[in-house]
Parts: sequence; C-alpha cells; structure tokens
Amino acid sequence: MLGSGMFRATVLTLFPEMFPGPLGLSLAGTALAEGVWSLEARDIRDHGLGRHRAVDDAPAGGGVGMVLRADVLAAAIDAALAPDDPRPRLMMSPRGAPLTQARVRALAAGPGALIVCGRFEGVDERVIAARGLEEVSIGDYVLSGGEVAALVLIDACVRLLPGVMGKEASGAEESFENGLLEYPHYTRPRDFEGRPIPEALLSGDHARIARWRREEAEKITRERRADILSS
Ligand code: ADE
Repeated sequence: MLGSGMFRATVLTLFPEMFPGPLGLSLAGTALAEGVWSLEARDIRDHGLGRHRAVDDAPAGGGVGMVLRADVLAAAIDAALAPDDPRPRLMMSPRGAPLTQARVRALAAGPGALIVCGRFEGVDERVIAARGLEEVSIGDYVLSGGEVAALVLIDACVRLLPGVMGKEASGAEESFENGLLEYPHYTRPRDFEGRPIPEALLSGDHARIARWRREEAEKITRERRADILSS
C-alpha cells in the first residue's frame, strides 16, 4: 500500500556517532521516539578492506586528498538495502541538484531514503553510476562531509510527516510553500524599545491583516529573493 508505513532514513557514513545528533531532540526526536519515523546510521568502515579496514585510496591520475573506494561503498549499500527496497538512493554532495522544499515534500510523502554521506575529496564515480545514486546539495558552499547535509535533509522531511509539527508545518503560509518568504511576526510587548507592532495587526480586521501580511511577504521576497519571485 503506497504512502503507508513509516518514513525510514538509512544513512551510510564513516561517522555514525553523528546520528541522530540534533534529530534526537525537539520535535524530530519526539517523533523518532514515538516511531513516527526511523533512523539507521550504518558505518561504511564495516565494509573496509584489510587489517586497517581501508575505505579510501589515492585519486587515479594523482592529486590531493583521498577517494572513497567504489567496492567498499557498493558493499555498504548492498548490505543496507534489500533488492526490492523502494526508497530513493541519495548521496549528499556539493555537486548535486540543489535541495528544494518541493523535493523535501516529495521525499516526505514517500517511504524514506537511503542517504550516502561522502567524505574525503570525493567518491569513486563508478559506484555513483552503478548503484544509481542521486546527488543532492544543500547549498553552494562546501561542508567537511555529507553528514551535516544529511541531517538537514532528514530534518526538513521529518517535520512534514503527519503529526510531527501540528498545523504550523501544514504550512501554506510557510516560507517557500507559497513561493514567498514569510511575513514578519510580532508578539507582546506592544512597544519594544520604541518599536510598535504594526497598526494593521492590531486592527482586528482579518481581511486587512491578511492583505498586510501578503504585501509584507511580497516586499521581503522582492528585497531578499527576487530570484524566487515568479512575477
Ligand atoms: N557535502 C559537502 N558539501 C555539501 C553540500 N553543500 N551539500 C551536500 N553535501 C555536501
């Protein structure tokens, strides 16, 4: 039955101790403890070679750094997945397609993901092709490994799972869900260091408040992220 069963994240990493990390706390952590989703962090080094359980080697053609071996990573993937496992196979990498809220929504609606975390200078290209790994980037900057990126991706998915966040994340209002950044928020006190709450929000006129919020969202999006504005 499609869409039933929990969201399962399987992470292949050289640093399994990084998981669940922050995902063991707050809303994601509560949902994890409740069995709303599951997390399995598997150590790639369990498939390392020789007495030192080597996982990497020098790059063919020379150059700096080390490359994760195709055979080692393939063995780790094959041990983690049953042949009929329907989950997408992702690899966190700055070379990947940029992660979007639309992709997060699609992943959260599915059975979960296998997520490979690269380290070193790179991963042997042949295992990416041979195991059909889809590279995903969380932004145009370079992390020291894919683990933090995997935590980001999983966090973004888990908060959308039914029952994790309540109505906040149902989120037609959320940044990106409606193609706009969010409008500004205010709460008490009415005056903070001479800065009042915008008068429209105190009017009690729901149509006016909705209009003010939409205008503010459009203004902020124009100022900060003209690139996501459709018109
Ligand atoms: N690994 C290193 N940098 C990364 C990035 N920006 N996104 C995803 N994985 C990464």
